[in-house]
Amino acid sequence: MRIAVTGATGVLGQEAVEALVAAGHEVTGITRRDSGVPIIEGRGGRAVVADVFDRTDLARAFRGYEVVINTLAHVPVGMAGLRPLSWREDDKLHLEASVAIARAAADAHVRKLIQESTIYLYPDNGTDWIGEDQPLSVRNQAFRPRVAEMRAAVDFAAAGRSSVILRLGQLFGRDQHTTHALKATRSGDPILLGKPENYVTLLHHTDAGRAFVAALRADSGFYNVGGEPITKARWAKDLAAEAGVEHPAKFYPEITQAIVGTRLDTQRRSLRVSSVRFMSETGWRPTVGPSTPGWSRR
Ligand SMILES: NC(=O)c1ccc[n+]([C@@H]2O[C@H](COP(=O)([O-])OP(=O)(O)OC[C@H]3O[C@@H](n4cnc5c(N)ncnc54)[C@H](OP(=O)(O)O)[C@@H]3O)[C@@H](O)[C@H]2O)c1
Repeated sequence: MRIAVTGATGVLGQEAVEALVAAGHEVTGITRRDSGVPIIEGRGGRAVVADVFDRTDLARAFRGYEVVINTLAHVPVGMAGLRPLSWREDDKLHLEASVAIARAAADAHVRKLIQESTIYLYPDNGTDWIGEDQPLSVRNQAFRPRVAEMRAAVDFAAAGRSSVILRLGQLFGRDQHTTHALKATRSGDPILLGKPENYVTLLHHTDAGRAFVAALRADSGFYNVGGEPITKARWAKDLAAEAGVEHPAKFYPEITQAIVGTRLDTQRRSLRVSSVRFMSETGWRPTVGPSTPGWSRR
């Protein structure tokens, strides 16, 4: 298939390009900068420079493609997320660029849109499982960009088109966030939010890349994508093992956790998310777990 990927130079985008190329697809990555071109070509894709906020520019770039995959995100690393302005770019990408991408894809007669989303829209559900039918916790204004993005993807599915919205688990692998978490674990600084008994649903980058390939086989709808949920206490030990230290990763003290604000508060939630729907519909399976040795170097 001819597939265009936005956010193609990012953590998710690069994995998606590589996995799609390996599966035999003809893949073009979109970047706003010339320096992004070799990154995409290095993963085996073709690169096109376009402005992700410009519907006309995008429609031109998408013409002749059957599928558009949007992986755009710009998530602040660690406690930088506490700064009010640190989410501005991420918000703008979801509120404006993702909407422009969905509309441009429709303008260009693309047949399928695969949109990255997140499990952090679900409420804390304690030890109970979370399926796709669980109502979202998105009333706060902070979630407006993600809601607008979802709505645009749903609208795209009108008139016989298809849109697949992937609610991805917490990414781990060779990215800035995990590198930061491993560094903090080595130095004994706190890094985890929530309580040890809370659940976390993780997704390794390479499995995320493969999920975009699997999503080509999925019907329109919402799908959770993550590995087997584990407790945060388990994750703290897995981080320590990968960091090469004895002591488990530390939790932030309650007093700090109480003031993290809406965005980082999502990280305190217990999210035991089931990906059974995605697995049974597409055959996708996670292959790298947090107890797989060497996961931070893959
Ligand atoms: N579910 C999850 O847990 C989840 C999901 C997504 C990301 N993350 C984490 O967030 C961190 C950052 O992710 P990332 O590396 O993919 O993000 P990133 O590199 O900051 O952004 C991804 C791509 O989006 C484009 N982009 C970013 N800001 C833009 C802007 N203002 N205007 C236009 N395009 C813009 C860039 O493409 P060009 O510069 O090539 O145009 C960039 O390569 C990683 O550690 C990742 O693991 C986690």
